[in-house]
Amino acid sequence: MSTPTRVLFVCLGNICRSPLAEGVFRHQVEAAGLSHRFQVDSAGTSSYHAGEAPDPGSVRVARQHGVDISGQRSRQFVRQDLERFDVIVAMDRSNHRNILRLVEDIETVRGRLWLMRNFEEEVDGSGLDEDVPDPWGGGPRGFETVYEIVERSCANLLRHLTGAA
Ligand code: 4NP
Repeated sequence: MSTPTRVLFVCLGNICRSPLAEGVFRHQVEAAGLSHRFQVDSAGTSSYHAGEAPDPGSVRVARQHGVDISGQRSRQFVRQDLERFDVIVAMDRSNHRNILRLVEDIETVRGRLWLMRNFEEEVDGSGLDEDVPDPWGGGPRGFETVYEIVERSCANLLRHLTGAA
């Protein structure tokens, strides 16, 4: 049996966006009967919230969509993650830059380091932003927006990784 593809989602605090992406992607993988083919994790480029549970806004919006992320805990992205994961998905360009700071040879991450919204498709013709907006400290609408972006992007990421696109 082939080794599972290891997928890591990365944001700044690892309490809002990337835990949601981790939970949603894992949920989609399970729904597709592909749990044996993927290992999913998330991390933050900062250590601000290390050890903490996801933000209540992310826990709530995930639960509203049938996904339980309450057991996940924040951890900081470390250099070794660059080798441990096959696919690393940054939530915004700032996270992407922070990850690149730890990269010694750009060739080693070519084709493995992505922006989350690279996988999103336009839904209403209004164009795409490059960043998943940071909902931290804002109201529930922000978390719902993040959920919708993450759900669409994760579905396309899964298609991309399974060759079903
Ligand atoms: P996240 O959101 O990167 O999506 O987890 C944030 C969480 C915490 C902070 C910033 C963004 N903070 O500055 O503490």
